[in-house]
Amino acid sequence: MSGQRLAITGVRKIEMEHADPARAAKFYTDVWNLNEVAREDGSVYLRGACAAHHILAIHPSNGPARVREIALSARDKDAVDGLHARAKAGGFAVDAPAPRHTLDGGYGFSLRDPGGRRFSILCNARDHADDAQVRDRPYKVGHVNINTALIDEMISFYTEVFGMRLVDQAGTQYFFNADSPDHCTLVLCKYGMETLNHIAYEMCDLDSVLRGAGRMHDAGYPIEWGPGRHGPGDNAFCYFAGPEECPLEYTAEVLQIDETYEFHGPDHWKWPPGRLDQWGVTPPHTSRWKRVQTLYGFAK
Ligand SMILES: [Fe+2]
Repeated sequence: MSGQRLAITGVRKIEMEHADPARAAKFYTDVWNLNEVAREDGSVYLRGACAAHHILAIHPSNGPARVREIALSARDKDAVDGLHARAKAGGFAVDAPAPRHTLDGGYGFSLRDPGGRRFSILCNARDHADDAQVRDRPYKVGHVNINTALIDEMISFYTEVFGMRLVDQAGTQYFFNADSPDHCTLVLCKYGMETLNHIAYEMCDLDSVLRGAGRMHDAGYPIEWGPGRHGPGDNAFCYFAGPEECPLEYTAEVLQIDETYEFHGPDHWKWPPGRLDQWGVTPPHTSRWKRVQTLYGFAK
């Protein structure tokens, strides 16, 4: 893909299933600090400070809380059609590109990755008129990190079907860049099962990450790992177990890169003994965070 623009520009939105969407939405508005934009047929739609109509949809379900779909933004209609051709050739496409009859519309298609998780690729979806960084309010979904036992298949899927660029590997973590200056949009963690590692919501700065962490703490959601600053991506982080133990991250100040960025592997991204990040003040992640890694799945 060198020298070409990548087709995918970022994470557009996350679709989740909850037994009680209204209860989960109360957390996402009152504590996580998103804004509700719509309720329809039991589903609740929430936006961040970016223009996207919503970045999180919570749908009613009788099953366990889980991720229904990860929607990625594509540059334009040609990019969607090109991605569909690749997905179809690989046997991954679920449907053909078409206008989407959803609250935020747009044009796109759905596909399933090698682990059976559902993604969609969208362009021209409905936006709000305002788009501005707001202190202490999540702007967008910065990245999604997925645990997988199918690491080789998933790396091929992200690079060959999605056309993303593997920009770093640290330990079991693999970082993928889209057509965006953000260091990574998707992350894979080599793991023993197909679960959600975490969803990262981007704040405008470190101060906002810490203000959000304080609000989470006050509401009974302690920090499970952080505050810290990662090596790959250089982003500040705090991790939490949200509603139904959903693994969540507030992040900010992610490294901005271009095509000249050079890949570094696990030998480069090593910390001195006793350190887990650049600052060296965060304790190891909690036992709860380790357990949460095994809990949150995907609708198949
Ligand atoms: Fe992250």
